[in-house]
Amino acid sequence: MKKKLVISTGAGMSAESGISTFRDAGGLWEQYPVMDVASADGFARNPELVHKFYNARRHDLLKAEPNAGHRGLVDLEKDYDVYIITQNVDDLHERAGSKNVLHLHGELMKVRAVDDESKVYQLKPEALDTTPETVIDGHRVRPHIVFFQEAAPNIEPAIELVQQADVFVVIGTSLNVYPAAGLLHYVRPGVPVYYIDPNPAMVPAGVHVLKMGAGEGVERLARELKTTL
Ligand code: APR
Repeated sequence: MKKKLVISTGAGMSAESGISTFRDAGGLWEQYPVMDVASADGFARNPELVHKFYNARRHDLLKAEPNAGHRGLVDLEKDYDVYIITQNVDDLHERAGSKNVLHLHGELMKVRAVDDESKVYQLKPEALDTTPETVIDGHRVRPHIVFFQEAAPNIEPAIELVQQADVFVVIGTSLNVYPAAGLLHYVRPGVPVYYIDPNPAMVPAGVHVLKMGAGEGVERLARELKTTL
């Protein structure tokens, strides 16, 4: 029976793919007014601006490739049951080949009906741009993103995964946004927790902090797990 490795990733996981993080210097929240482009009120106030913001991020994503960190997590699937919980809305974990990916904050390459959140549509690379007037299947669409002021729908299954983990790993998040930031408190007693981040936030004593980027950190993690698990 393979050990269960549960990995929680944030924007730093995709930094080495050239995707901007949010709160680093030059990050997205320095360039855009977050409550205008990523909140429910902002979307109600000016849907045009919100559609434009996500269209630009989709074009950036199309130019990006998974990095060594993403590929390292796929390699770990040889020896462990790997489950990824990500705050990221990019599809780089999936494009790297990770099988179990749970998105907490939505998915950039998907839109959904404004009037029926169960109607979700995958955007094609050749048709990334949407406007407030875009209609699919008779429904006006919005980004399939969890805006600020909206609940993270997948947090329950995410907590269950963490509670079943034999090892829990946090990669590339400033641990600013809940409920994602609270996941590390759900590990069973004695389960090792690793945190890979070049500029780590404060974490409880006992967490193994690897103060480095995702690519190098996942490689180091793989080596450490071989000697400890
Ligand atoms: N490798 C790993 N981590 C990195 C790298 C790298 N190469 N470069 C930067 N980081 C780290 C930073 O040190 C920081 O801790 O990535 C983290 C990025 O933090 P944020 O920009 O706050 O991103 P994140 O924690 O994912 O934000 C959470 O906030 O705005 C919302 O919905 C949005 O999902 C996002 C949520």
